[in-house]
Amino acid sequence: MSSNSAAARYHQRTKYSPETLGQGHFIDWNSPPAQFKEYRGAERRDLRPFLPMNEDPLADPAAGLRDSESPLSLPRLAMLLFMTNGVTGIAHAGPQTHYFRAAPSAGALYPTDLYLLSRDHPDLPDGVHYFHVRDHSLLEVYPPGVGPSGTELFERLQAACFGDPALREARLALVATCVFWRSAWRYGERGYRRCLLDSGHVLGNLGIAAPRLGLAASAVGGFVDAEVAELLGISPEKEGVLAVLPLLDAEREGGLPRGPSARPATADEGDAAADAILDVHNAGAIRAGSHPEAPAAEDPALLLNPKYEFAKGIKLRHDGRQFAEQMEMSILRRRSTRQLSGQSISVTELADLLAFAYRADLVGDTTPPLFDPSLLESFVLVNSAEGIEPGLYYFAPGFMELLLVKAGDLRREIYHLSLGQDLARDASVVVIHTADLEDATRRYGARAYRYLHLDAGHIGERLNVAAVRMGLGVSGIGGFFDDEVNALLDIPPRELCVYITCLGRPV
Ligand SMILES: Cc1cc2nc3c(=O)[nH]c(=O)nc-3n(C[C@H](O)[C@H](O)[C@H](O)COP(=O)(O)O)c2cc1C
Repeated sequence: MSSNSAAARYHQRTKYSPETLGQGHFIDWNSPPAQFKEYRGAERRDLRPFLPMNEDPLADPAAGLRDSESPLSLPRLAMLLFMTNGVTGIAHAGPQTHYFRAAPSAGALYPTDLYLLSRDHPDLPDGVHYFHVRDHSLLEVYPPGVGPSGTELFERLQAACFGDPALREARLALVATCVFWRSAWRYGERGYRRCLLDSGHVLGNLGIAAPRLGLAASAVGGFVDAEVAELLGISPEKEGVLAVLPLLDAEREGGLPRGPSARPATADEGDAAADAILDVHNAGAIRAGSHPEAPAAEDPALLLNPKYEFAKGIKLRHDGRQFAEQMEMSILRRRSTRQLSGQSISVTELADLLAFAYRADLVGDTTPPLFDPSLLESFVLVNSAEGIEPGLYYFAPGFMELLLVKAGDLRREIYHLSLGQDLARDASVVVIHTADLEDATRRYGARAYRYLHLDAGHIGERLNVAAVRMGLGVSGIGGFFDDEVNALLDIPPRELCVYITCLGRPV
């Protein structure tokens, strides 16, 4: 990838630096974007009656469903959508009502929308349904008699996804999109990064919730963008498709082969467009008529950056038994911690957090549907953890080892580079997700930018849910001085910081 590729260009253009922070983007506080689409006159299917609300705060909200309902039934779908992106908190500020969701979102702007596509379902008409989060309802996008039949819908979806085998069988599929302006309204051009990270968190919830409801959810990242957008009837000038997610009955069809998840972009990158977000998103598109082959998969478990091979290592020993239960409740109770105490967590707690986020296989969880986790690397900055000296470590998930990069107290540095946020200074540990953008774009073209941020958000959500399960505090950080993170980690300009997650004990 040349440094003039669309992904590198966008990344460079949206960096924060101490000199330029706060310049150049006007926020019209009087006109916040709508967080929901309204399909006026559309047939509406209320999913709220299917939610098993239980007075017992410790009861597993999905327990009754598992015994009584088939995985693809409406009650389980209602629960799946609720745990993936439903309203789990409401706050009133004067005349305004704020709806908080199962997945966190930078600035609580919620750019991610979900569509459900159905065919031959006993309780749903064939077609495209918009998941209206506030009302927990499904709205039919096409009026009755308009739009493709269920058979045609899935044939076209499968063709747009290069014949993905899971879609051949699936009677239901979710599609995740993001509405760029919801995030760009506040964050300007950098909003696209948040759109992708936020959507990754939503996919993270899906990956945790689906198997617990008896569903096998895969994530297709290689699809012809314009064809899927056309099926949904969304405007490509305003909204992008990020993932197609076939839903199968895990017991009956879960073992079916799945297509390669991520394929490279085939768009002509061209020159920079006036709109930086459309520029990078469109440069990452797969065009109709093209046949991008997925690159050979690398096993992320075996990857170890040779740079840290001989560093002093700490073997992490996890326990992880708590992740066998209460995970639904942890998703529904999750909130971003607003203040961390600076107190230590234990080395076992850190091991458990990392095992759940990166090594589902070690804690008895289903392999999460990531696009290409081999693209990401992670550093753990330890402010205060029992049994580990403070400093910066490279985390090797395959070996569950922390490799020392730099010893010492780095609170001042992490506080500064996360734009002076107390959360980073008062965290026990800070996970920093990075990637080699040149390598990633060599594999996937500009589409790599999507996969990197979606996967980092996905892992970030697994850290969130694990932390809540363990009674710890957690928050993502999407704003940081990019070049200063590189300097702290001592990584070259071709590598980038994708995302930061703070973990610790809440006040
Ligand atoms: C990608 C991303 C970036 C975020 N960045 C920050 C941040 O820099 N500082 C912060 O205090 N919270 C941050 N948050 C947390 C959001 O503010 C929080 O998710 C939102 O207010 C909704 O509240 P909830 O997470 O409690 O549901 C971030 C969340 C996400 C998903």
